[in-house]
Amino acid sequence: MLTLMPNIDTIAKVLRLNNCCMYICICNQITDSMLKEDARYITKCGTQCGKCIPYIQQNLIPGTEDAIYSEEELLLAYRNAQLGGMG
Ligand code: FES
Repeated sequence: MLTLMPNIDTIAKVLRLNNCCMYICICNQITDSMLKEDARYITKCGTQCGKCIPYIQQNLIPGTEDAIYSEEELLLAYRNAQLGGMG
């Protein structure tokens, strides 16, 4: 029996269309919505297999071309960091 598996880009697009969250770090079960709620989760990303690190460094959701943070969210996080707080 032939089983067709969708590729990671297709899965990502379907999840995005359904407003689902996306995993940023699978090993530590950290999603994009968790990061947006509390940026301190970023310190846990990459602490196991490390495969998520190159994507995070490029602000990309692993397996996609979608940004983790919008430009506005990055500016807000930068401003909050300068004030010593977490965004
Ligand atoms: Fe992030 Fe493995 S996917 S450490």
